[in-house]
Amino acid sequence: MTSVAELIRRTAEAEAEAEASAGVAVARLPLPGHSRPIVLQSTGASSCDSGLGDDPWAIDRDPGYGPGASAADQIPGAAPRQGPLPERYTRASDEQLDRWILDAKSTLGDRVRILGHFYQRDEIVKYADFVGDSFMLAQAAKQHPEAETFVFCGVHFMAETADILSGAEQAVVLPNLAAGCSMADMATIDQVEQCWRELTEALAVGDGGVVSVGLQPVIPVTYMNSSAAIKAFCGRNGGIVCTSSNARTVLEWAFERGQRVVFFPDQHLGRNTAKEMGIGEDQMPLWRPHLPLGGNTVEQLRDARVILWNGFCSVHKRFTVEQIQRARAEHPRVRVIVHPECPAAVVEAADGAGSTEYIRKEVEAAEPGQVLAIGTEINLVNRLQQQRPDLTIFCLDPVVCPCSTMYRIHPAYLAWTLESLVAGSVPNRITVDGSVAAESRVALERMLAAKP
Ligand code: 13P
Ligand code: SF4
Repeated sequence: MTSVAELIRRTAEAEAEAEASAGVAVARLPLPGHSRPIVLQSTGASSCDSGLGDDPWAIDRDPGYGPGASAADQIPGAAPRQGPLPERYTRASDEQLDRWILDAKSTLGDRVRILGHFYQRDEIVKYADFVGDSFMLAQAAKQHPEAETFVFCGVHFMAETADILSGAEQAVVLPNLAAGCSMADMATIDQVEQCWRELTEALAVGDGGVVSVGLQPVIPVTYMNSSAAIKAFCGRNGGIVCTSSNARTVLEWAFERGQRVVFFPDQHLGRNTAKEMGIGEDQMPLWRPHLPLGGNTVEQLRDARVILWNGFCSVHKRFTVEQIQRARAEHPRVRVIVHPECPAAVVEAADGAGSTEYIRKEVEAAEPGQVLAIGTEINLVNRLQQQRPDLTIFCLDPVVCPCSTMYRIHPAYLAWTLESLVAGSVPNRITVDGSVAAESRVALERMLAAKP
């Protein structure tokens, strides 16, 4: 097995040789880093955080979600931190990283599959074997038993899901451990257990506000964007997982079994989906985890159809009705499509809402010349814009603000991860073990089996 040190030595020798034979002066000075603003385009748009031009490793040691994160996002003390990235990678040029990634990828062949979420930067997406939304990537992990390792270019909860659904012998690796999700962190397992205790006690009073005999009082549903511990909680309590592409199907599944649903952690996806099913806002109380009964009365909980956890995505919370009004004023024929993590008023004002794959398909199906305003993460919007130059596509938010944790996956981490795999070590392995894995698999399998 080749060690990383040996790889570094060999590559340095090969580079010196190549440079010498090309007549290039070999300067052994540090190579420039990658202070390349990842999303600032030539549109003159301003960025929500000047730190977005920095390399992720410059901030990995700091606690927090990094540049672009909202002040409302509180990172848990126990959130994983990324260790220092070797200088070989932090000092490499884009061209070197590209060569190292491609070389390692070809050495590893089918043994390693790179999964990339739509929100990843283009410099990562170009190496991915599968690109998709969180649902598609969960399926990809399940459907590729030939792979020994999945390198998950996305965020922590997605890597956990891939580990749960893939075989016991398959490893899942997250190139930068700082790639978490602030929304997923808004519900901890302790808070969820506490909510469940209070809820079941409140609903046990009298007839529990019975809607229909024979149904459970409440079914727990968790968005994919949650920890494995919460997915396991749902699995052992007759609940299920959903993604933004199947939330309605999953809620229908839940209402066949229960009188109400408690929905973790994204209030917006829960509210938007329930509204689409004809449920009134007065039947969707918000559960604030730090208040007794989530800040509700027993009557409100008994009358509820969907109890919404008070979580949100700081990226999608930035989209507003005013932005939609401005887009319509400036482009009278514009079609506005948004992700269902946006607030309900935004989804209502838009022409369509759906998962990242839905948004991609809408763009694919658009007639040449059409104008589309999109309310989702900027990396996906920019990519769609590049793929369809015959359309006018723009992000609803004029301020460029990517998902601050997706952004933490950089080609330097990918190169380090792949070269470590070539050298026989498995860095940043994400594992979900024992009963947590088994019970979350139950909730995930229910989701994969639920059909509209
Ligand atoms: P999708 O389920 O559409 O991939 O979205 C995941 C996500 O994190 C959106 O913020
Ligand atoms: Fe989490 Fe929002 Fe980033 Fe999606 S876009 S990973 S929900 S913070």
